[in-house]
Amino acid sequence: MDRRRFIKICSATALIAGIQGNRSDLAGAADLKEFNRVKLVDGKGQPIKASQLSKEAYIFNYPYMGTPAFLINLDAKPAEGVKLTANSGEYSWEGGVGPNGTVVALTAICSHQLSYPTKDHTPISYYASEKSEIAGKSGVLVCCEHDRVYDPTQGGKMIATNKKATQPLTSIRLEYDPATDELYATGVYGTMRFDDFFKAYKRELIEEYGPGVAKQETTDSSTTVLLSEYSPQKDQC
Ligand code: FES
Repeated sequence: MDRRRFIKICSATALIAGIQGNRSDLAGAADLKEFNRVKLVDGKGQPIKASQLSKEAYIFNYPYMGTPAFLINLDAKPAEGVKLTANSGEYSWEGGVGPNGTVVALTAICSHQLSYPTKDHTPISYYASEKSEIAGKSGVLVCCEHDRVYDPTQGGKMIATNKKATQPLTSIRLEYDPATDELYATGVYGTMRFDDFFKAYKRELIEEYGPGVAKQETTDSSTTVLLSEYSPQKDQC
């Protein structure tokens, strides 16, 4: 049986005792698409420990082998239930997980024209402590391709600039196991543009990952590294 299925956020799966995430009391209409439950691990295959995350952004590939996502340890616990609008309807963002509720994950594919970090260079990045020139502040995700700014404390909501608003970044649903301090990705919700992404960057994804690899679902574990290591060259804006 194909274990993937769409469910509504408001009818999310039951909680596993003690595990954070998958909250079932959030009203929302955007579909949650469940993917493999994938453990986040470091470059040596050891589980990432949520309590030891730096304040820099990390990258891991989820829900597919060729779709990068940000893992961010925010300065403070974000509000839960932020109302967002995706192409499939309104939804409520689940907020953060981890020992302090500060760990969030969002796709690293810009919702405007799908720019993303490659292993050479990234136009989209997280300004943890440095100020983004176009945003006028830190703590934001900015895509320098056409100056879009997203707020990771509000589920990747597009912050209004002088640009026409676009949709939020796709949310990656996380689980946190307090017994082991480990993190898992379990699904995505909000804007779904992965098919558009695969079409737009077919040639580049074959070059980077090999034929047919980028569209394969991530299974078991996903290597999670600092964005500064994943994409050594970063656009600044
Ligand atoms: S592709 Fe990111 S702002 Fe246009």
